[in-house]
Amino acid sequence: MEEGLLMDTMQSDTALQLSAEKMRELGHQVVEMIIDHFESLRNKPVSPKFDPEKLRADLREPLLEHGSPVELVLQKVRQDILGNIMHLDHPRFFAFVPGPSNFVSVMADTLAAGFNVFAGTWLEAPGPTEVELAMIDWFRQLCSLPDTAGGLFVSGGSVANLTALAVARHSRLRDQVKDAVVYSSDQVHSSVERGLRLLGFDRAQFRKLPSDDRFRLSLSDLQHEVAADRAAGMIPFCVVASAGTTNTGSVDPLSDLSRFCREEGLWLHADGAYGASSMLCEEGRTILRGIEDVDSLSLDPHKWLFQPYEMGCVLVRDRRQLKETFHSMPEYLRDIDLSEEEVNFCDYGIQLTRSFRALKLWMSLRVFGLRAFREAVSRGIALAEVAEETLRSLPDWQIVTPAQLGIVTFRYSASRCSPKELEAINQKIVAEMIKDGFSMVSSTVLRGQNVLRMCTINPRTTESDIGETIQRLDRLCSKLTLEDK
Ligand SMILES: Cc1ncc(COP(=O)(O)O)c(C=O)c1O
Repeated sequence: MEEGLLMDTMQSDTALQLSAEKMRELGHQVVEMIIDHFESLRNKPVSPKFDPEKLRADLREPLLEHGSPVELVLQKVRQDILGNIMHLDHPRFFAFVPGPSNFVSVMADTLAAGFNVFAGTWLEAPGPTEVELAMIDWFRQLCSLPDTAGGLFVSGGSVANLTALAVARHSRLRDQVKDAVVYSSDQVHSSVERGLRLLGFDRAQFRKLPSDDRFRLSLSDLQHEVAADRAAGMIPFCVVASAGTTNTGSVDPLSDLSRFCREEGLWLHADGAYGASSMLCEEGRTILRGIEDVDSLSLDPHKWLFQPYEMGCVLVRDRRQLKETFHSMPEYLRDIDLSEEEVNFCDYGIQLTRSFRALKLWMSLRVFGLRAFREAVSRGIALAEVAEETLRSLPDWQIVTPAQLGIVTFRYSASRCSPKELEAINQKIVAEMIKDGFSMVSSTVLRGQNVLRMCTINPRTTESDIGETIQRLDRLCSKLTLEDK
């Protein structure tokens, strides 16, 4: 070792360390930035206005050999990086699936990162493991699953679906996918198809059946397909039900599907990444009846439980199947192998090193209380109904699917426009809204038609946010009509 190197590493810079005073200063500035974000969000545009060329030039500068003052770095973060994001937590962000988040959970994530919690094993994190077990058990009870059920937190819905499908493949097929077939409606989330691809299924082994007039999986079509596949020597093995589709919020007939799957020996996975949080309130429990009978379930706290990214959850009816699928014990990990009671979450999923996601949910539930969460979810459902009513009161709009689980879809359909003009307007309007910046809706295609979609799950959205958004849509569509003439 070079002389003096050991001494040098004791210096704060090369030990990647700041003095307590500097840490405090930086910490205060970061917290102030976050508070300012929460406080000023409503008065900001939903989407940034930026020059892509300048952005690239500003952010692709080479790294320097020597450090820069933290104030300068933070200034760049504020202006060039965080100043150039679309705000999915904005009260007028109604596109895709919003991410409303909350400040308490943001602080919890800061703590989890600050203590660099390794939440993969009991040995390294007994406290965090107990918190995760408690939160998972709370979800289990919320969805009325039996006490054999268990699960874990993952990065989001895509990984939750992948994890559940891996468990289904292992438990039912011993990982031999040849000739096995998976079924869903054509409204299933794209992450399911991607997950199946990763698990070795080819496209021909996934049947996306045309949804019924309410965008749900049709039991009779499913029965027919399963029988036809069996007759052809295939191995029907799993049904993926949607418990709240991204497009319309529709829910597949879970009770009928679970009865059929039981009779046929099929695994039933419900993708409730978006919708299952609504089990918190009466309306959701009614719509999601039958969820208690699934074999596995995805549910994303980073969507409708107001948690910052990344937080998904997967539950499996028999938690032993998680361990059977994922457990592996190399010699260098033998010290973590304690008793059955002492759960190692690395045995339940893909990640060995994993962060302490459960803390944010736990802390926010403790601070705000269950009632606040229940009311926030109910409010999301009610706001979509307000949007539907407002649209119905205007002459040029047509409701395509009524408000369900916080999502309404609709179309500009002024009688003075031709069908071709209307298609073009319903597609162009999203770009106009982005330019306008006041609020954000998104578009999708239903039965081959361009439609608009509002997802209203942010509890800080007001009725006038909804009203003003629809007024702007109306004005902008009228303008587009005139431009097209
Ligand atoms: C129904 C549904 N499933 C799965 C996903 C994927 O979730 P994530 O983006 O968290 O991976 C989404 C995302 O919107 C979704 O709406």
